Amino acid sequence: MGETMQNLLSGARIGALELPNRVVMAPMTRARAIGDGIAPPSTAIYYAQRASAGLIVTEGAQISHQARGSVWTPGIHLPEQVAAWQAVTAAVHEAGGRIFLQLWHVGRVSHQDFQDGGLPIAPSTIPAAGEAFTAEGFKPLPAPRALDIGEMPGVVEQYAHGARLALMAGFDGVEIHGANGYLLDQFLRDGSNRRGDAYGGSQAGRARLPLEVVEAVTGIWGADRVGYRMSPWFSMYSMSDSDPVATFGYLAKALSGKLAYIHVVEPVAGPAETTVVKRLTPALREAFGGITIANGGYDAASADHAIASGHTDLVSFGVPFIANPDLPARFARSAPLAEPDQPSIYGGGEAGYIDYPALA
Ligand SMILES: Cc1cc2nc3c(=O)[nH]c(=O)nc-3n(C[C@H](O)[C@H](O)[C@H](O)COP(=O)(O)O)c2cc1C
Repeated sequence: MGETMQNLLSGARIGALELPNRVVMAPMTRARAIGDGIAPPSTAIYYAQRASAGLIVTEGAQISHQARGSVWTPGIHLPEQVAAWQAVTAAVHEAGGRIFLQLWHVGRVSHQDFQDGGLPIAPSTIPAAGEAFTAEGFKPLPAPRALDIGEMPGVVEQYAHGARLALMAGFDGVEIHGANGYLLDQFLRDGSNRRGDAYGGSQAGRARLPLEVVEAVTGIWGADRVGYRMSPWFSMYSMSDSDPVATFGYLAKALSGKLAYIHVVEPVAGPAETTVVKRLTPALREAFGGITIANGGYDAASADHAIASGHTDLVSFGVPFIANPDLPARFARSAPLAEPDQPSIYGGGEAGYIDYPALA
């Protein structure tokens, strides 16, 4: 690793925070919540074990009853959920870490089982291919109902409510989940948004809800403690856009100066040395003009390369953090990485969650 250039292990400023390194823990649903979306005591241990990350972004937390689409995910809309998260943020801070909560609304990636028998909501009545993970197993996603324009302020208020509760829970900031085919992504992309009103049509119309949410959430937290996650190529759940470069370029530019960071998820293809150059992240970073976190299949070498060549400022790691709680130390020592146990990634108890050891 170069000594004069920035690299994965050099410190960084991200909004209001000073980070000791550029290794971000990517948000990962682990489906361990109990009761009505309550993070169990093991969640505090899990995140505290990973406190050496420059920044932790938690798993998605549903911002309302309507925002749910999967079993055993935690929420950020009820007082008892706040109390559980307070234990998490205290444990991470005690261990010297920094932690943002990811604010999540699934939109059409839900099922009647989560909606009191009603249909999930979406920009348009276009169904997503895929399945919802319900208490009774996997069920096909139903065709959603389109939100009425009169319901839009209420949707923005759900994000504001989640943001207020995250503040009460002691987080260092929040990340708005605009990626992976969920509600804000559904509004942004024209494959899922066919609205004829102010929330559809042009890039500006499709970006309206995401930008209103950013305004509401930064109004509570300040621009220097809010990030936004986007995934221009994500294609599961029937996601598509006729011009991803223009659509996401528009969004990145519109977010300029309004956030602490953007977090860009891109799939891996081919050797890292060539893909980091082809990725859209550098162009989105330029349009945004601020701190950017890149994600998607990175290892220490490709992440270092992406940072040193100015394609991104930080890199987030998902899967590598599951079985390597001390990932920055392993990178520093070029130590081998442990592989996660697949069956315990989603759901279950403490096994495969908090029992991965740090290096001796
Ligand atoms: C088990 C698991 C759960 C995930 N849950 C979320 C989530 O809650 N929110 C999100 O934005 N992305 C989620 N992702 C995507 C990751 O944040 C990340 O984009 C993906 O794993 C690619 O990064 P990696 O190659 O470093 O793992 C999840 C990924 C995994 C493997």
